Amino acid sequence: MDSIRDFGLRNVSSQCSLSEMDDNDLSRLLDKPRINIDRKRSFDERSFSELFNGIPRQLAPESNIDCSYSSGGRSGLATPASSARNSFEPHPVVVDAWDSLRRTLVYFRGQPVGTVAACDHASEEVLNYDQVFVRDFVPSALAFLMNGEPDIVKNFLLKTLHLQGWEKRVDRFKLGEGVMPASFKVLHDPARKTETLVADFGESAIGRVAPVDSGFWWIILLRAYTKSTGDFSLAETPDCQRGIRLILNLCLSEGFDTFPTLLCADGCCMIDRRMGVYGYPIEIQALFFMALRCALAMLKPDAEGKEFIERIIKRLHALSYHMRTYFWLDFQQLNVIYRYKTEEYSHTAVNKFNVIPDSIPEWVFDFMPTVGGYFIGNVSPARMDFRWFALGNCVAILSSLATPEQSMAIMDLIEARWEELVGEMPLKIAYPALESHEWRIMTGCDPKNTRWSYHNGGSWPVLLWLLTAACIKTGRPQIARKAIDLAETRLLKDGWPEYYDGKLGRFIGKQARKYQTWSIAGYLVAKMMLEDPSHLGMISLEEDKQLKPMIRRSSSWTC
Ligand code: GLC
Repeated sequence: MDSIRDFGLRNVSSQCSLSEMDDNDLSRLLDKPRINIDRKRSFDERSFSELFNGIPRQLAPESNIDCSYSSGGRSGLATPASSARNSFEPHPVVVDAWDSLRRTLVYFRGQPVGTVAACDHASEEVLNYDQVFVRDFVPSALAFLMNGEPDIVKNFLLKTLHLQGWEKRVDRFKLGEGVMPASFKVLHDPARKTETLVADFGESAIGRVAPVDSGFWWIILLRAYTKSTGDFSLAETPDCQRGIRLILNLCLSEGFDTFPTLLCADGCCMIDRRMGVYGYPIEIQALFFMALRCALAMLKPDAEGKEFIERIIKRLHALSYHMRTYFWLDFQQLNVIYRYKTEEYSHTAVNKFNVIPDSIPEWVFDFMPTVGGYFIGNVSPARMDFRWFALGNCVAILSSLATPEQSMAIMDLIEARWEELVGEMPLKIAYPALESHEWRIMTGCDPKNTRWSYHNGGSWPVLLWLLTAACIKTGRPQIARKAIDLAETRLLKDGWPEYYDGKLGRFIGKQARKYQTWSIAGYLVAKMMLEDPSHLGMISLEEDKQLKPMIRRSSSWTC
């Protein structure tokens, strides 16, 4: 019983339906014997998938990627939307995207190990956009996996794992052992003909922000790699097992907490500067939940792993209850909060966190549709951040942190508030924007985060892949299609900007980089997933029946 071969890590198969693609169930984990499944793909299947992968490899400039083994994740034959038109006559935007993505490859001692954040030669300031960011590499990695090129992903996972082992300090303060870097860079010394890696764990980052999301993305990506390739040997290595445990150790340790959510400072995730997301940001909670479930699928129940497995299971129960109960907002719940009494003491309190109804911002009452709902940005004593955050809500759907009803309600809300959340460019990172006094207080007068720009209500094309995945999972591919069509009309023409500005996302962002890698990769991943929805299994987890949804009716659940 020390293999990790089952538990939702079956290779994505063309035969299985979307709902069967993952069935990671806590009860199965603990009780049932693990079944070895045949992960070898037939030659036919592989060659067919390579055929249908079409474009990229052939059109690419010498990429030096060793493609000799690429079982890929593509299932080809039985996929509903794998049309010959798309495969043999690739969309010109897709061709350009692959070309541009390959130009971002970073090599270390002859091996591709990642992609830089942006290749904007016109931009005067490079800042740290020439680095390989862990979070930015995720869509690149998925694109390569979907295209049957797993080696770069494996190299990346191993290199970052190695970096995790470094001793890291900010001034005189030593950081936790399991911290994964925000980004890294390869330094070339042409004279000595040497290459070395330099990593940033937050000690050089603007604002010295902690990359809490990096470790979670690393675990999620390790599972995606395993699921896509059927190569279980990587996740099973003692080094990877230790890497997972170290990351978890940082977030499962006991302290003064009264909530199962993870307490973070501002700038701890994709929004990596002050934006009032400190506390218990939804992005981190959703990634935390997903990483816990992925880790559970990969940890071996050996002497060291067993204890972690137990801790994970307990935390998942508490976390899903807390999130589904206290972060969830729909019309009915908003009405409940609106009528809250305050100063309630003891276990009978309804308003547990003593939220003052006067603190509900005016915009929510208009924004909330009769049918639909979402996980709000943050919940802590007397503080509910009612803003909508795209990444957290999409990851909540993908990880099944959201119950099936809640997932449907999130999609209902996106449809009902299309103009606000998508407008002319998918997808708003957060809604609404902070303005005036609130902007001054929350962002510290940040000129990059003015209203409807950058993290403050800007529109980020990278989020398209997450929206598409959520759409496919909830059975609404037509929404994804609409969003991709919108993006397709602008992205290439505008030079793959990092973000767009304005209430409708019409303007290329004030300080947006061009040729931003994750805008390119996010688009490709969205395209490939829509064409072959079986790719979804790499990045999605089915509902765990053991994590019971709360028995509480709300308007959007019944409709
Ligand atoms: C910006 C983004 C951050 C991203 C980085 C590199 O700082 O806010 O999320 O990782 O750029 O693209």
